[in-house]
Amino acid sequence: MTLILGIETSCDETAAAVVKDGRSILSNVVASQIEIHRRYGGVFPEVASRQHILSITPVVEQALQDAGVKWEDLDGVAVTYGPGLAGALLVGVNLAKAIAWANGLPFLGINHIEAHIYANWLVGEPPSSFPLLCLVVSGGHTSLILMKDHGEYKELGHTLDDAAGEAFDKVARLLGLEFPGGPAIEREAKQGNPRAFNFPRAWLKGTYNFSFSGLKTAVLREVQKYDKSASMKPGHRVPRHLPVADLAASFQEAVVDVLVGKTQQAAEAYQVKEVLLAGGVAANGLLRERMKKALNVPVRWPPPHLCTDNAAMVAAAGYFNLIRGEHSNWDLDVVPGLKLG
Ligand code: KG4
Ligand code: ZN
Repeated sequence: MTLILGIETSCDETAAAVVKDGRSILSNVVASQIEIHRRYGGVFPEVASRQHILSITPVVEQALQDAGVKWEDLDGVAVTYGPGLAGALLVGVNLAKAIAWANGLPFLGINHIEAHIYANWLVGEPPSSFPLLCLVVSGGHTSLILMKDHGEYKELGHTLDDAAGEAFDKVARLLGLEFPGGPAIEREAKQGNPRAFNFPRAWLKGTYNFSFSGLKTAVLREVQKYDKSASMKPGHRVPRHLPVADLAASFQEAVVDVLVGKTQQAAEAYQVKEVLLAGGVAANGLLRERMKKALNVPVRWPPPHLCTDNAAMVAAAGYFNLIRGEHSNWDLDVVPGLKLG
């Protein structure tokens, strides 16, 4: 039995978890800062770092207590070292080094994008054969990644501007919906007509790249028809009589169309065995439903609480790194712009 302590502080969740053999969650503690950042309409980096400092020790202690595990029972400490906010990442990385050093444990620096992918190993039967295609869609990243084996990645494409989740957050702000925007837009869209507005889809033919800034601007232009001064800035006034549900539904439809279309093309081109969805936007019900219908290989996704940032996924990725003998050095620094593949 191998027990890994996972730690995650790359953005606005302070999280710690204990995972057995890369698959069974013994504890999974997430202290969300969503309420704190809501007043800014997005994550405020300096506030995030300070909040991580306040929360991290009790969160780690809680994770050990919930799992019924002592320090000496652990076999490794895994922590996100990038991509993410530098000051936020530093809090987790420094604590993980201290815990690993003090207890003589392997120290495992984990790529946050890889961690999101490994959330798919935490439920049900794990994927049994490679290659796999991973669509990672979160507040900070949007990429299509070919996973040739454990630890072997090739990025096929990424967003040229906004991440999918970022577009959800910005459009939600424009429509006067709360942060985070994804769940709020999904809720509104249920009452709206997805064909009310024909928003642009950036297909960027011949590539697996994405772009959401044109779509975001198209929604802005539509809202400005109701009030010329409308903007995506926090605290702006939302025009009255705005058809919020129709705008939300049409926007969501455009994002999902492109994510599904590109994933389908890549799945066929690379003859993958399965498609894995990962990241906060993978919690979106329409995306899951459409993806399943469009693809002729199995599609899997983690439950919503494992799609958004958590430390169980970091511990799972840590386990698979550990069994390959991939430890990190003590001088590992945070890498805010870290890529995968
Ligand atoms: O993975 P995550 O927790 O953080 C990052 O690593 O970025 O993703 C957060 C993002 C936010 O932009 C949020 O609006 C989006 O995921 N999100 C959703 C949904 N739930 C969360 N987007 C669309 N539909 C959802 N149901
Ligand atoms: Zn994330």
